[in-house]
Amino acid sequence: MLKGKHIVLGISGGIAAYKSVMLLRLLVKRGAEVQVVITPNGKEFITPVTLSALSGKPVVSEFFTANTGEWHSHVDLGLWADLMIIAPATASTIGKMANGIADNMLITTYLSAKEQVMVAPAMDLDMWRHPSTQRNIATLRKDGVIIVEPEAGELASGLVGKGRMEEPENIVKAAEEYFSRMATLKGKKVLVTAGPTFENIDPVRFIGNYSSGKMGFAIADEFASRGAEVTLVAGPVSIKETHPGVRRIDVRSAKEMCEAAVSNFGDADYVVLAAAVADYAPESVADSKIKREGTDGMTLRLVKNPDIAATLGCMKDHQKLIGFALETDHELENAHHKLEKKHLDWIVLNSLNDPEAGFMKDTNKITIVSASGEEMEYPAKSKREVAKDIVDVVAV
Ligand code: C5P
Repeated sequence: MLKGKHIVLGISGGIAAYKSVMLLRLLVKRGAEVQVVITPNGKEFITPVTLSALSGKPVVSEFFTANTGEWHSHVDLGLWADLMIIAPATASTIGKMANGIADNMLITTYLSAKEQVMVAPAMDLDMWRHPSTQRNIATLRKDGVIIVEPEAGELASGLVGKGRMEEPENIVKAAEEYFSRMATLKGKKVLVTAGPTFENIDPVRFIGNYSSGKMGFAIADEFASRGAEVTLVAGPVSIKETHPGVRRIDVRSAKEMCEAAVSNFGDADYVVLAAAVADYAPESVADSKIKREGTDGMTLRLVKNPDIAATLGCMKDHQKLIGFALETDHELENAHHKLEKKHLDWIVLNSLNDPEAGFMKDTNKITIVSASGEEMEYPAKSKREVAKDIVDVVAV
């Protein structure tokens, strides 16, 4: 899995730097080409001579070599790397990464890295659990960085707790897992719809629903983390972060969502319709705010919105279509019926009757029904785990 891969190994200044020698050795043994980038503090813990001897390449630490003026391009390194592993990542390096403080070669290379970055933090237990570190770690996760969590155990300070850098074997395992996951859907194109739609009544009012978009976003992220190129058509949601491999198109109404989905359907391999699309929209939108005075009530005439799933179902060629069904009664029967009517390949059923499924929740409980009639029932899980289950079934 690692043979021929270009890996930048970033080493920052922590006592765990001695373990990076073993990590480097394991990566090289598995056939990876490794370029070490070390921070000035890192060199206090481990000598560049050891690292260059093991990697077969001069270690990069400064922006240029003082006596020759040779320039070391962090941009080139960032482009070269298939993966950048920062191990150990100290609290300082993590903080600089989270905030873009590019005052050394390691951070500039991180900011230039085009592909995945993985960090293995190492620090004292109090530093690890400090709100500042945890905030920075959360930022890195949002930025798409894989965190190889530190272990609990005896620390260099003599204290016992979480903060010890993960063992080199397990960091290598995480790198291998990353490449094997990436390989599975590389070159595939995915279209996902997510969130609610808002149908305007007048400039200040609309018809909407409680969909948070969490399920659809988790599915988009899961496909992207397996190497697929994902287009996510999102209704109005508050979610801000998406995996870097996701191209997001924000829409508001069902009509806009339908247009975006249709125009991105052609070359998609997998299409997941997780949006809670409004079935009806006001026939006309008032130009100014509708007044209350002088009326006893009002009647709003609604017209049917396009059924995006059914529209795409009729256009279907090579695409695999996956729909969702949210039912309150006769759940399986209705799901089977919808699957057939909309020409879907799979339908994911979640029931509003289940306390762990549905709108605004972080968990979901699903049954996947296939066009051949197979029913796969799962226990309640986080939406992230549910997304994994769905992708495992549909993208084999
Ligand atoms: O018919 P129902 O709304 O229950 O079907 C649910 C499935 O159809 C979901 O996958 C949903 O995203 C999709 N759908 C759609 N366009 C609509 C209504 C539903 O794509 N107008």
